[in-house]
Amino acid sequence: MKLANRTIKTSESGLDALFAATSADVISFAGGYPDGQLFPTKAMQAAFNASFAADQGTLLQYGTTTGYTPLRQKIAARLNRLDGLSLTADDILLTQGAQQGLDLTARLLLNKGDGVVVEGPTYIGGLAAFDAYEPTYYEVPVQSDGLDLTSLKKVLLKHEIKFLYTIPDFHNPTGTVMSVEKRQALVQLANQFDFIILEDAPYRDLRYSGERIPPVKAFDTEGRVIYLGSFSKILAPSLRLGWLVATPALLKAITALKAGADVESSHLVAVAVDDYLTHNSLDAHLDTLKTSYAVKKDAMVQALTQYMPKAAHFNNPEGGFFLWLTLPEGFDTEKFMLESLLPEAKVSFVPSKNLFASKSVINGARLNFTNVSVEDIEHGVAALGSALSQALAQPISHHG
Ligand SMILES: Cc1ncc(COP(=O)(O)O)c(C=O)c1O
Repeated sequence: MKLANRTIKTSESGLDALFAATSADVISFAGGYPDGQLFPTKAMQAAFNASFAADQGTLLQYGTTTGYTPLRQKIAARLNRLDGLSLTADDILLTQGAQQGLDLTARLLLNKGDGVVVEGPTYIGGLAAFDAYEPTYYEVPVQSDGLDLTSLKKVLLKHEIKFLYTIPDFHNPTGTVMSVEKRQALVQLANQFDFIILEDAPYRDLRYSGERIPPVKAFDTEGRVIYLGSFSKILAPSLRLGWLVATPALLKAITALKAGADVESSHLVAVAVDDYLTHNSLDAHLDTLKTSYAVKKDAMVQALTQYMPKAAHFNNPEGGFFLWLTLPEGFDTEKFMLESLLPEAKVSFVPSKNLFASKSVINGARLNFTNVSVEDIEHGVAALGSALSQALAQPISHHG
């Protein structure tokens, strides 16, 4: 069959392998799933029921491409309160999760071969979305306080780029947060070098310690930041509901692209989520999530401290779903997972290689702590620790 060139890279993104690595007898630190036991199932069911009860004949009808206005108003009010923005519903487009925001932004900006800066490592689904537009990637390392701006400047002096993709809050996969200073400096660079910043923030509301800091969007002086949010991690991923904030001119073009892609996000879901937000406190639900996830995160950090060999390094993130493990240079975490960790120790994680556009870093791994019980975290990390100690005792060339 004669498939389009855009499928060539997308089909090797590694997304399938990531989800295949899970079966019932495996303790999986691989997924990026929220804890299903914490879904607000009853309240969401009540919201759907109430939406049907109140229906005047429009609930099952087409809505609009921009999306249900009362919900967009609530999202704007929430972002104004928490992020210090001054938005109205007109600044917001409802999307099918943040994922669609990634696709639509790439569709808006990229011609084949155009430059895109991505973080190294980054969200694998971001690469999967962008790959379809056949960009040229420039990879900039992520440090403990976010993007390495010195490396970024070197790229910008040499290459023209259309947009920079960043996950500044509890970065997927490293769990790091970009400092306020870097957020400000990044906007200045975008102004100076004329590019768009794609700020992807699905974990932003899941902070377990430390102070909330403003989004990159709060420092946007020239309308260059496209800011994505999502209900996936804070309510439920199956809603497939997120939002995109952009200036009116960009939003108009993006909305036209969305109309061509899927006409609109589900009106039924938007009405029900709006009802949920009217009758429930999202902040109270977030407190429940944060309390539970903080316990799990602490359990993982404690288990890693106890069981990891000295040569392994890990961080202690202040929020989100993930922490990042670094093994000695040359150690191949993908080979280790497929040949030893998964078949023998029955534990999985996400190896670093496919999380880098360059595929150049093989000695890292992403560990998820939200969708695993505290007990499994302890058992799984203990098993990971002994498998790693064994593997590291052998010459590294066995794994390189
Ligand atoms: C950084 C990041 N962006 C976007 C997404 C996609 O989320 P959604 O379910 O909102 O489409 C995810 C999901 O894991 C993510 O981690």
